[in-house]
Amino acid sequence: MSETTTTGTAQIGVTGLAVMGRNLARNFARHGYTVAVHNRSFAKTQSLVDEAGHEGAFVPSESMADFVASLERPRKVVVMVKAGGPTDAVIEELVPLLEEGDIVIDAGNAHFPDTIRRERALREHGLHFVGTGVSGGEEGALNGPSIMPGGTAESYKWLGPILEDISAKVDGVPCCTYVGPDGAGHFVKMVHNGIEYADMQLIAEAYDLIRQATGASAAQIGTTFEAWNAGDLESFLIEITADVLQHVDAETGSAFVDVILDQAEQKGTGRWTVQNALDLGVPITGIAEATFARALSGSVPQREAGRAALTADAAAWDVADKEAFVEDVRLALYASKVVAYSQGFDQIAAASAENGWDIDRGAMARIWRGGCIIRARFLNRITEAYERNPELPLLLADPYFADAVAQGVAAWRRVVAAAATHGVPVPAFSSSLAYYDGVRAERLPAALIQAQRDFFGAHTYRRVDKDGTFHTEWSGDRTETEQ
Ligand code: 6PG
Repeated sequence: MSETTTTGTAQIGVTGLAVMGRNLARNFARHGYTVAVHNRSFAKTQSLVDEAGHEGAFVPSESMADFVASLERPRKVVVMVKAGGPTDAVIEELVPLLEEGDIVIDAGNAHFPDTIRRERALREHGLHFVGTGVSGGEEGALNGPSIMPGGTAESYKWLGPILEDISAKVDGVPCCTYVGPDGAGHFVKMVHNGIEYADMQLIAEAYDLIRQATGASAAQIGTTFEAWNAGDLESFLIEITADVLQHVDAETGSAFVDVILDQAEQKGTGRWTVQNALDLGVPITGIAEATFARALSGSVPQREAGRAALTADAAAWDVADKEAFVEDVRLALYASKVVAYSQGFDQIAAASAENGWDIDRGAMARIWRGGCIIRARFLNRITEAYERNPELPLLLADPYFADAVAQGVAAWRRVVAAAATHGVPVPAFSSSLAYYDGVRAERLPAALIQAQRDFFGAHTYRRVDKDGTFHTEWSGDRTETEQ
């Protein structure tokens, strides 16, 4: 660390001025903060100051050393570069220039184990490392994102007020709160993205179901989504879907959605969410199916082979009562969405317990109400559920959600059954229903699996009628022994 104590006037700095960093820097400046700005190539720094200089006070620097020197102490440096190697490279360059108590903020989509590692390394230098989730895309970064900071509680004392200031507000409440130590902020952002995948897949399935069953045009379905957005399903993703479905391709005059290649991509946060859930043993089936559905869509040779060889053996679909069907889909979408969120919040609880993060799930729902991609009216209901019972073992079982899903469960079954009958894939709808039936089942066939495991591997089992662990001599006289 530097021996000097040069102190500048900038209250916060941003290094990495691609669109997210640039918009965050402008957001700080618009809120009256003096913002130090730096980028590997100075041209980007210069263009930011040229184009947005009138919005507030920027202090541009060409070198990292000048950038650091332009900051008041404790320095707060937001690193907004690509996750992985580029983030490590910037941190390596920064650390020798910083002094005890300074705060490095990684606002990219870092993988939370990397954040845990970096936090530990910087702590050894007497520095705070804050891995923070930032959601809302370019627009959110500029006008108010949802912000999920981890790191030390002490760093939040310095940083929290600034981040809360630039975050989105819902009913005057900032969409930013302290999440928990080390990797907690990036973990919560990762799960946010997993839920985002599930939400998007469910919406896509709802659109596909209506199109296939009723023959409605993309634009007509867009109007349906617009109407849905006035009710319980009100959310950013439903709103933009209504818009996208009504958009017409200028070149062909076709529905825009029809000219897009049907292969969904991903940068990896959904995959990380599923990988982590497997490690924790938390069934996040909605998120997993959504991630696999993207993978299937991109499996080009497999899809070609499947199209050529596999038959549907299903009748054409033309529902008689179109209005009733659309309402069934709406109810099924809501129920499936509750399942996806319930599973995501279970994952947060499990990781929080495992890592000692003490994450307040109600507060996470609160900071997701605005600014982020999954912002939705029903997040208020999730916050209320955790306020009623902070230890709620299953969000689905909260009286409000149990009742809401109960009202749609018959419709949900009709939709999933009809989709299966007509050969329309609805992996997220159907796996969510299967989860619902699984988690409420009196008894599961897992008992048989335990017997099979004991049969071929002497893996033992427990009994319903007494304590202890048992094994049956399957290849012998079939006596049972307590282990
Ligand atoms: C957000 C988004 C943002 C981005 C993700 C998802 O919260 O603002 O989640 O982080 O859209 O990277 O992108 P992929 O679909 O490419 O994984």
